[in-house]
Amino acid sequence: MGWKEFWDGEHAIYVNARHRLLHDRRIATDIAALIPSRDAVVLDYACGEAGEAGIVAARCGKLILSDQAASVRAKLAARHGGMPNVEILDPEGVRALPAGSVDLIVVNSLLQYLSRPELDDLLAMLRPLLKDDGRLVIGDVIPRGQSPVADAVSLLRFGFEGGFLIAAGIGLVRTFFSDYRKLRADLGLSFHDEHEMLAILDHAGFAGERRRENIGHNQGRMTFLARRA
Ligand SMILES: C[S@@+](CC[C@H](N)C(=O)[O-])C[C@H]1O[C@@H](n2cnc3c(N)ncnc32)[C@H](O)[C@@H]1O
Repeated sequence: MGWKEFWDGEHAIYVNARHRLLHDRRIATDIAALIPSRDAVVLDYACGEAGEAGIVAARCGKLILSDQAASVRAKLAARHGGMPNVEILDPEGVRALPAGSVDLIVVNSLLQYLSRPELDDLLAMLRPLLKDDGRLVIGDVIPRGQSPVADAVSLLRFGFEGGFLIAAGIGLVRTFFSDYRKLRADLGLSFHDEHEMLAILDHAGFAGERRRENIGHNQGRMTFLARRA
């Protein structure tokens, strides 16, 4: 199994329904805060199930949700397909979007699953889609040297604040024996330090900067804002 199959199958990345709800709500609220105007076209790339995408859709003109996993897109269609300003696309559909048509592209919690060539290809695909003043936001980038223990502590804190601490503890034990951990050990994850990310963005034709706060609850990870250079 690779990451692609992992995301297309059943997985227990959330410890319970409350964790999923609070995660989705936090991500959607953070994305909504980045929207430049009420009529903005927003692309959430590698959006996952995006359970609270309605929060984002309510704040923009059009929301494009895209994920490579067919099973995820089916869930997106079932949950959000009825919203008039939401479109669900596979990555090829994103590639075919008109140049200069998107105000905000968000890529959250994806880079750790991409090789460097895949990341370069992704940036090359996304860059032409941005309007002249459009912005690319890449969130949840894991710096080198970040240990899984830091992620575990962050989850426990999120669980404490969100009222699912015990489930978070049980979830961590379950993760230890899960496909996720085996895949993480076998395939590894990609890590990027701040200066590397800025160099990768520069190489891809973006002017980037690190944002003070990360998208989502894990503040040990990083978010970058970028415009076409
Ligand atoms: C960790 S989840 C992140 C979901 C969401 N962005 C969030 O922050 O909650 C990663 C998602 O990226 C999708 N994905 C992985 N590789 C992808 C790629 N190359 N293009 C598009 N989606 C991808 C997976 O199917 C999965 O749903």
